[in-house]
Amino acid sequence: MNLSEQSMAMQASTAYFLKQIGIGVSRSELDQLKAVLQFHEHRYYVLDSPLLADGEYDQLYHLLVATETANPSWVTPDSPTQRVGNSLNQGFETMAHWVPMLSLDNSYNAADLNDFDRKVRELSGLESIEYCVEPKFDGASISLIYENGLLQRGTTRGDGVAGEDITQNIKQIRSIPLSAPLASRGIAQVEIRGEIIMRKDAFEAFNRKLVAQGNNALANPRNAASGSLRMKDPKEVAERNLDAFLYHISYIGTADGEPSPVDTHSGILELLWELGFKSPKEEKKVVQGIQAVIDYCLAFEAKRDELPYEIDGMVVKVNLLALQERLGMTSHHPRWAIAFKFKARQATTTLLGIEYQVGRTGAVTPVAKLAPVYLAGVTVSSISVHNEEYIREKDLRVGDMVLIERAGDVIPQIVKSLPEWRRGTEIPIVFPIDCPVCKSPLFKAEGDAVWRCINIECEAQVVEKMIHFVSKDAMDIKSLGEANIRKFYELGLLKDIPGIYRLAEKEAAISSMEGFGKKSVDNLFTAIAASKQQPLYRLIYALGIRFVGETTAKTLANSVNHLLDFVESSEESLLLLEDVGVKVAKSIHEFFSNAQNINMLSELETLGLQLVNTKKEQVATGALKGQTFLFTGVLSKLKRSDAEASVEAAGGIILSGVSSKLNYLVVGEEAGTKLEKAKKINSVKIISEEELIQLLTIQE
Ligand code: IVH
Repeated sequence: MNLSEQSMAMQASTAYFLKQIGIGVSRSELDQLKAVLQFHEHRYYVLDSPLLADGEYDQLYHLLVATETANPSWVTPDSPTQRVGNSLNQGFETMAHWVPMLSLDNSYNAADLNDFDRKVRELSGLESIEYCVEPKFDGASISLIYENGLLQRGTTRGDGVAGEDITQNIKQIRSIPLSAPLASRGIAQVEIRGEIIMRKDAFEAFNRKLVAQGNNALANPRNAASGSLRMKDPKEVAERNLDAFLYHISYIGTADGEPSPVDTHSGILELLWELGFKSPKEEKKVVQGIQAVIDYCLAFEAKRDELPYEIDGMVVKVNLLALQERLGMTSHHPRWAIAFKFKARQATTTLLGIEYQVGRTGAVTPVAKLAPVYLAGVTVSSISVHNEEYIREKDLRVGDMVLIERAGDVIPQIVKSLPEWRRGTEIPIVFPIDCPVCKSPLFKAEGDAVWRCINIECEAQVVEKMIHFVSKDAMDIKSLGEANIRKFYELGLLKDIPGIYRLAEKEAAISSMEGFGKKSVDNLFTAIAASKQQPLYRLIYALGIRFVGETTAKTLANSVNHLLDFVESSEESLLLLEDVGVKVAKSIHEFFSNAQNINMLSELETLGLQLVNTKKEQVATGALKGQTFLFTGVLSKLKRSDAEASVEAAGGIILSGVSSKLNYLVVGEEAGTKLEKAKKINSVKIISEEELIQLLTIQE
């Protein structure tokens, strides 16, 4: 079967299984269902070109979960359901690599590469060498062992001779296949090397989450990737959206001592790709002679920032495997390969002082002022240093030399201070005890990393709140940007959010200001008036309630008829909403319990803003739409997390405790106090695992 025939067969099977949802599949069809899921995972995670909507994939996945749940003996180790680890890693066992993991010698310029080429030519006696050049991925190296087509083990590099067994975590990385058709190419065993990376978008999302939780942001995706691999809980690894490139085979064992199916490095990259692995097949280039190598390295460096992942250089490899063998290795690195390192993205500079900025939530952020330094395309003169603890951890002092780094488009970070340079005149940093703007005392809640000004009339907060209110993703009042808000505030024309909608009363004063001709004043008032029609979720987001981002704002908007309905909402009822956790519920509840906020909202409504939800959408669909569930005890067939996911996929909602809001309590073995509690509430239906499975398989 050629590729497109296979693809067509898979499409036909996909259509078939989509029709089986709610009906189930037989034992004989199960292998095909798994093959279909593997095919779509490969399209999505390796080829980056999905053929199926996410929701459809989820439905097929749950069809497999439901089938395996009903027939546990049908589960195989390479089933897509087996990625999800349920148990924690108990410390990592050390495992010897089949072949030691060497590092590479480095080169930094054309002269170094010419040197390398000269040595290769001398040692081989050849006049010109064929090279394969590929990116040097900036992540954490790993080694994978596949036997009889199945992923058996994944290890870290360790000391190069032995590494730590991180198989459970490796299985969370969806671009690494759990099985591969190795036998089709006569391969019985193989040890594959590669790099685990975090793509730039995943890294930024991950850092945003860390900061929102009050943690420090990580300096670069490499640290994020290598830290993630050693997490105790595989589920957390899964959430980090890691990716992998595989670029080397260190051992290939063929059945019956058959010859290896490849004889070049580029052939290995292609073979890996054909077997379903993500290799740099497209990124690599085979060239003749070192000048072409240099050209490709420089051309690639020029487009470094456009790549969705970080690379810190290129790797140049002699392409013929037989020649690689002849060249051999030194005690540290192979003689047939060399890394070409790109220009550094680190620099050193002096820390001149710290400025403290107050944000709209009152959070005080220290910002390091630096002697301006050129770094990877930009001049850097200030960098956020997040919070007091961060400054202490890094032992930063005013006057210190500091090492700074900018990885790709990522915001610059201070990597560390360089105490070796200290002369004794450096000044320790003392975090202020009063707000740098309004001078009222700062507070820090327990467990919070951030000091806050809690004076809600603090000028900094008032202004920042208004700036957020008019911003693009909020009310989107373009003509009233940050600069105008600051100006109007200073002149006393604007002092709070409702004041924005009363600016028209100040027309005379505004028109007399420089830069406010008739046209721009008209535009300003038209834009303000138009924003009154913004949908409710934008207004909710614009209010700047802590932890309420755009997604939560949409969920909130969909759950009420009128914004002020939230005044009546308890924290518990807020918890029932999708994506609303304890912290978020508490914050929303606090916001709507504050009389000043309610007055502001009423004022906004009087001024003509939309507080009614005109576009209430139904969020949940599916057989269990809107029904609430809770689990207790140990389930015998289903994994708790899979069962919860299946309930959610069918439109159900998982609650965190027994209350009158609960519709179903699913009871496993050794059920605890939740069962006792639920028995006391008449409206709760107490069901067994089997009954849940039935509910899940009966669809609308
Ligand atoms: S080949 C024996 N290829 O760079 C050859 N390494 O500084 C082994 N790396 O430890 C390595 N991208 O973690 C190779 N395309 C690539 C690479 C690569 C990143 C890492 C790898 C290695 C380190 C050496």
